[in-house]
Amino acid sequence: MSPHAEFAVIGGSGLYALLDGATEHVVETPYGAPSDAITIAEVGGRSVAFLPRHGRDHRHPPHLIPYRANLWALRSLGVRQILAPCAVGGLRSDLGPGSFVVPDQLIDRTSSRVQTYYDRGAVHVSFADPYCPVGRSTVLATASGHGIEAESRGTMVVIEGPRFSTRAESRWYASMGGTVVNMTGHPEAVLARELALCYTAIALVTDLDAGVEGGHSVTQDEVFRVFGENTERLRAVLLDTLAALPQERDCPCPSVLDGIKLPIELP
Ligand code: ADE
Repeated sequence: MSPHAEFAVIGGSGLYALLDGATEHVVETPYGAPSDAITIAEVGGRSVAFLPRHGRDHRHPPHLIPYRANLWALRSLGVRQILAPCAVGGLRSDLGPGSFVVPDQLIDRTSSRVQTYYDRGAVHVSFADPYCPVGRSTVLATASGHGIEAESRGTMVVIEGPRFSTRAESRWYASMGGTVVNMTGHPEAVLARELALCYTAIALVTDLDAGVEGGHSVTQDEVFRVFGENTERLRAVLLDTLAALPQERDCPCPSVLDGIKLPIELP
């Protein structure tokens, strides 16, 4: 029987495995290999796929992650709803390390990444609200059940990296409305949208970014250390959210391609 999953988690820095008793699957796509083999296991009676965004040995830096292959591979397994935890820097002094933010908006400051599957024809997906509203509210409710008062809205600024921001850049991102900053939230979000998938980012603050009062020059060690300290809280929220997500999708995400003539066949 071919592997199948309807829900997926794309794990960020420090989250390289999630599921106990999982089977492992090597998936190929027209866009090459995804970041790593995909593991599938049952969570709360649901079939869930897990893909470590950077690879389990963190071999893919943010600007070279095979984003198109990752989303395509998940859809080809049957996945329709994705939870996407990621490490972020806080752009507000009240969002210190360990805070959770469930963003509702995104600002794309990347510069070198392919961000579409559609290189022919007229396929212009709506992206005004980049995240699944049902996924977001489910994560917020689950986090609250674990005593985590996550920031219920926020704008994630996605930079090209792999370097961190200068203080001036960081102050600018905050002044233009950014709540948190990271390097991997895009084009993952738009590629999920182009495949009509539900996509929900869960941002775990690992540091205050350089331009924020109280912030300092961010280091990679700090990001990994703080993420590691919060992995168990994140894991609890993810597993409970996976069990709580509705089986039937009742959100705008499945119909974003309605009426559009696609130049390629989706898996
Ligand atoms: N990921 C975690 N912290 C970050 C920061 N301050 N800037 C960009 N990406 C990050």
